[in-house]
Amino acid sequence: MEEKLKRVNELLTKYHQEHLLTVYNNLDKEKQEKLLNQILAIDFEQMEKLYQSTKIKPEFKDCKIEPIAYVEKDKLPFNEKEDYLKIGEEKIKQGKLAVVTMAGGQGTRLGHKGPKGTFDLGLSSHKSIFEILCDTLKEAKAKYQARIPWYLMTSIENNYDTVKFFEKNNYFGYPKEEIKFFIQGELPMLSEEGKILLTEEGLVKQAADGHGGIFEAMHKDGVVKDMLEKGIEWVFIGGVDNVLVKMVDPILMGLAEKNHALAAGKSVVKANPQERVGVFCKKNGRPSVIEYTEITEEMANARDEQGELLYGESHILCNLFNIKAITQIGENKLPYHQAHKKATYLNEKGEIIVPEKPNAYKFEAFIFDSFERLDNMAIMRVRREEEFAPVKNAEGVDSPETARKLYQEFHKIK
Ligand code: UTP
Repeated sequence: MEEKLKRVNELLTKYHQEHLLTVYNNLDKEKQEKLLNQILAIDFEQMEKLYQSTKIKPEFKDCKIEPIAYVEKDKLPFNEKEDYLKIGEEKIKQGKLAVVTMAGGQGTRLGHKGPKGTFDLGLSSHKSIFEILCDTLKEAKAKYQARIPWYLMTSIENNYDTVKFFEKNNYFGYPKEEIKFFIQGELPMLSEEGKILLTEEGLVKQAADGHGGIFEAMHKDGVVKDMLEKGIEWVFIGGVDNVLVKMVDPILMGLAEKNHALAAGKSVVKANPQERVGVFCKKNGRPSVIEYTEITEEMANARDEQGELLYGESHILCNLFNIKAITQIGENKLPYHQAHKKATYLNEKGEIIVPEKPNAYKFEAFIFDSFERLDNMAIMRVRREEEFAPVKNAEGVDSPETARKLYQEFHKIK
């Protein structure tokens, strides 16, 4: 312990983060050990770079942005659709598909106490979001008589509660051996002065590293290895908070296979040019997503000869990746983006500070930054009312109320 403390002190002096030991002497032995281990695991050089990045406004002027080609599922010629369906169904029956649900987010906007997947959507059945998602997998499993492994990405913060919830609910009747949890990475949060923050109890304040952390986590936690051993070729990766997510879609898979694309993404057409969603595009010739904060007014309103928005394909976090793409993407970290957040912390005097406005930086990688590592990607527009019912906010748009209505309408239930 003495030796460890010495090493920690040297590191903290070097990187001007000495305040991290503010309450060290008041912690019990177990927490002291935990704090030292947390500090030794920090990549301080990376944290310094991330802090510098908060001072730079991202520039897009060097990027060539163009519309991306897409197909509309509803308008696919009959033969083409049948062809995709056949290819995809064959793969699914052979057990070549795995599904990953990203459930590591904090769900701050929803404000539910506990992991978002444990939220009761308010149906008369009182099914949780996890159970609703599982229903679609059970249905597909029965339809194709196939094994469909289900992986769930959690965070250090919500892993325990998530696993317990599955145990308590007997895995919703899904084969237990087909369900695997893995935990995404975390990064320390920084003050506006570049100091690493402490939690109220005096440990390093960490936050999940964004949904883009999935590739690194899949490699580190042995998920890719497990998939390869199972002979998985295609991996559907979706968010936990879309109660209409169609995780097993043979047409999407057939489309990707037929186009020799290592990934395929589903889109829904933007509700209006101003809708605050990211849209698929080509950036410097590669597939990408341009966020609503980056798109110009002119681009957002531009239409083709048929009157369709040129940048109208909203990214809905429903993507299919070939296992080769997952391996390729996981070789290098995705870039981090900063979010300015309110974070309660312990200051250098050992006082708990509860901010009234954003006071800290959190760093997140985005899954869609991975698209630029691929040569091409097949995009398929689907119907919003059939595949997209997000639960984001406690009330209003994209809330449990709107998602429940869409779910009930689609399933024709009360
Ligand atoms: P959101 O970007 O909507 O974030 O996540 P969130 O954490 O759920 O909600 P807010 O912003 O705090 O209100 C979209 C999807 O990505 C997952 C979420 O669980 C959700 O399925 N996600 C997000 C992760 O798995 N890890 C993360 O670090 C962030």
